[in-house]
Amino acid sequence: MKNIVILISGGGSNMEAIVRAAERDRWAERHGARIAAVVSNKAEAGGLAIAKAHGIDTAVVPHKDFATREAFDEALAKVVDSYAPALVVLAGFMRILTPGFVNRYAGRLVNIHPSLLPAFPGLHTHQRAIEAGCKVAGVTVHQVTTELDHGPILAQAVVPVLPDDTAATLAGRVLAQEHLLYPRAIAGWLSDTSRHNE
Ligand code: GAR
Repeated sequence: MKNIVILISGGGSNMEAIVRAAERDRWAERHGARIAAVVSNKAEAGGLAIAKAHGIDTAVVPHKDFATREAFDEALAKVVDSYAPALVVLAGFMRILTPGFVNRYAGRLVNIHPSLLPAFPGLHTHQRAIEAGCKVAGVTVHQVTTELDHGPILAQAVVPVLPDDTAATLAGRVLAQEHLLYPRAIAGWLSDTSRHNE
């Protein structure tokens, strides 16, 4: 069985969409894959309760307990490695990961970012898209490399930017697409057997 470990920091709506897709589309039978654990850097992350309600292992590695990014990433990797993951999924995980962590999971670490990368890496993507006068915005699922919000693009979805949009209304429209795109991109990754022979 291929284990998937999902890292979150907050509400976990993308994680929930992935978990629901795994159940609905029977990833265990179809892909030999399961969501093995959900790990957060924040104890108060709402997504932890959702994961538990689906019978998924949860763990918290509070970044505030560690003096350096390296020490935090080392502790995080220890928890993640205990599930021997085939895939590590960043789903609203709001910490910058060290090259050591990224390289450890090279080729099996994916992220979702709420913009059409390479446009608008980093924070406040929706506000920046509105201020730039963009007519479309969207979301990107990509492989994680050591450069923040870069790496080979696996999937994208586009939404219109409407004249009256605020960052909040645009974020809501993008998030609805995130919930469709991320499970689909992961299922695609799982069925791409060439990756598993690397
Ligand atoms: C999502 O919009 C995700 O794309 C974004 O955080 C939100 C998490 O929501 N991620 C980033 O900005 C990463 N750079 P969720 O916790 O409800 O899935």
